[in-house]
Amino acid sequence: MALQSAIINVMAGAAKKAAWKLVRDFGEVEQLQVSRKGPADFVSIADTKAEKTVVQELTRARPGYGLLLEEGGERPGKDPRRRWIVDPLDGTTNFLHGIPHFAISIALEEDGNLVAGVVYHPVTDELFWAEKGRGAYLNNQRLRVSARRKLDQSLLATGIPFAGRGDAADHTRFLNEMATIMPQVSGIRRFGAASLDLAYVAAGRYDGFWESGLAPWDIAAGIVLVREAGGMVSEFNGGSDMMKSGEILATNSAIHGPVTRLLRDAHKKTATVDRGVDAN
Ligand code: IPD
Ligand code: CA
Ligand code: CA
Repeated sequence: MALQSAIINVMAGAAKKAAWKLVRDFGEVEQLQVSRKGPADFVSIADTKAEKTVVQELTRARPGYGLLLEEGGERPGKDPRRRWIVDPLDGTTNFLHGIPHFAISIALEEDGNLVAGVVYHPVTDELFWAEKGRGAYLNNQRLRVSARRKLDQSLLATGIPFAGRGDAADHTRFLNEMATIMPQVSGIRRFGAASLDLAYVAAGRYDGFWESGLAPWDIAAGIVLVREAGGMVSEFNGGSDMMKSGEILATNSAIHGPVTRLLRDAHKKTATVDRGVDAN
């Protein structure tokens, strides 16, 4: 049985408290699907309420820590070394459409390093948590990334850009990534919550995940999970500035090199087309 530290208890408690209300609101959203106005305003209120609950719980337990919040922005604390990074509702589009795949994601950063992460999926009651140097867990069970070594047996997840996310060049770049990776793997999924995509890599459900255009709160907790489950996390080119660039590739260690090479090939194709040269 895994023993959660005090800090994980605080994070899990905050996530679960907010989740309880989110699930109640989710039930309401399902009813609102058929109304002409739709549930958009209701969902944005639910999102803000969830963030408020998380912030209340975290600051009650650790009053001095700073905060980086999706909705509320950056709030420096008295303690300059530590900050919470919070996405109160990851998978908003799913939530809005009545699809039960969304999560609350909370990470702790210390001196610029990610040291703890919690991703809670309320509908399945799955608490993914990890602490630097202490491993990653799903509820009480230790997590390891998958052991698959062959790309053609690997299941990858990704995020697809959409209206308002990235420009035409970004969309073309993504299509080239798909065209390059798709024929090499056993499947690609787009479930719509980056924090859960990373948690699933940590749990060995996916062998890898890649996406660009993400925000720090989408990935902070998931990065700790994947690393602590023995996986590799980088930018597409192998760099380590994922929190700034918003670009992430998280995999088991066996397929990290091969997927990096596929992404490089895909981007070469994009660059060739950009210069107006026929790729063939
Ligand atoms: C989104 C989800 C989605 C990803 C988007 C994110 P949100 O977060 O993580 O999977 O593709 O880029 O913005 O808006 O649901 O918190
Ligand atoms: Ca998010
Ligand atoms: Ca969100």
